[in-house]
Amino acid sequence: MSRNSTTAALSLPATLGWDFGDYPYALEPLTLPHPGEPWLAPGAIGTGLAASCRELLAAAGSGSLAVPPATAAELEQLFWFRWITGHHISFVIWRLIAARLEQLAAGEGDPDAIAREITEYVRAYSAMMLYTGSSTREIYNRTIRPSMYRMHSTFSGTWAADYAAVRGLFRGRRLPPVPAGEAGALAQEIALSQRIHLGVAAKLVADGRSLLQHLVDQPAERQPRVWSGIFDCYFLTLRAPASGEEVLAQLLRRCKAVAMDLAANGLYPRVADYTGPTPDELCTPETLACESELADIVLRVAALATGCRPPR
Ligand code: HEM
Repeated sequence: MSRNSTTAALSLPATLGWDFGDYPYALEPLTLPHPGEPWLAPGAIGTGLAASCRELLAAAGSGSLAVPPATAAELEQLFWFRWITGHHISFVIWRLIAARLEQLAAGEGDPDAIAREITEYVRAYSAMMLYTGSSTREIYNRTIRPSMYRMHSTFSGTWAADYAAVRGLFRGRRLPPVPAGEAGALAQEIALSQRIHLGVAAKLVADGRSLLQHLVDQPAERQPRVWSGIFDCYFLTLRAPASGEEVLAQLLRRCKAVAMDLAANGLYPRVADYTGPTPDELCTPETLACESELADIVLRVAALATGCRPPR
């Protein structure tokens, strides 16, 4: 990337109007430090991020985050934008969770507040799975799935470099050391995220649910090498030193674009053709609540991460 394009991609979003990529539903590369590299130094986040986030919340509240809805001809581009950008937000959420888990393990900060933040981030990741998985089955199987297969015939979510630090949490086998009063809410959100993953897999891929269940319970005997570089290239993710301010500015840029998309198109655009049954996991009251709150969750995660207001 040239210095100018780097600066644009790492800068705070404008208050109004679509300024993500070059036009609605275009993409931007995400720059993240390598996993394990420190990036979120306590107290190192300036007030500019929170101010920018407050402007975003005000714009969303007054209904001025407007962009024309996608037409039927633009759906493929819209779902591609959601697939890549929703994954980017997920990667940052994983990093935020990993940072909070480290704080808990080190006995730093208020454990109740940290536990509530982790729970909120887990919910935001569930929301992002619903968002990235909102494609029609037809577009997913015609465009998105083959694009992963072209990169590698066993392309897998397990290759995500930023996921390793939170895999234990999402597998739900053992909760992190959160205070007892917060453990139930966290366990519930983790269980919901697992059901939503299964539901999205079942919705988009004919044998998706059983494939996921089988591979999580019994990983394939001969694993391919973990190609996190291929995963990063596919998801337009660059690895370079980036400060907490820069990572969170990139999160804010994306949350604004997603909020604008949802305001214009809803989670399931009216012009999209959703044929086929909806998997049970996507019909539960908990999943439907997560779906209906999605736009709020996206803004809340931006607020929480930038210190714009405390968690619920
Ligand atoms: C909607 C966005 C999605 C996201 C963010 C996502 C993310 C992930 C992640 C992070 C993993 C690693 C889990 C672990 O190691 O514990 C994973 C695994 C897996 N996912 Fe997804 N996933 C998504 C959609 C799907 C879909 C549509 C399918 C359809 C079949 C699917 C099938 C699988 C399978 C089979 C595995 C296990 C892979 C293996 O063990 O090699 N996922 N996914």
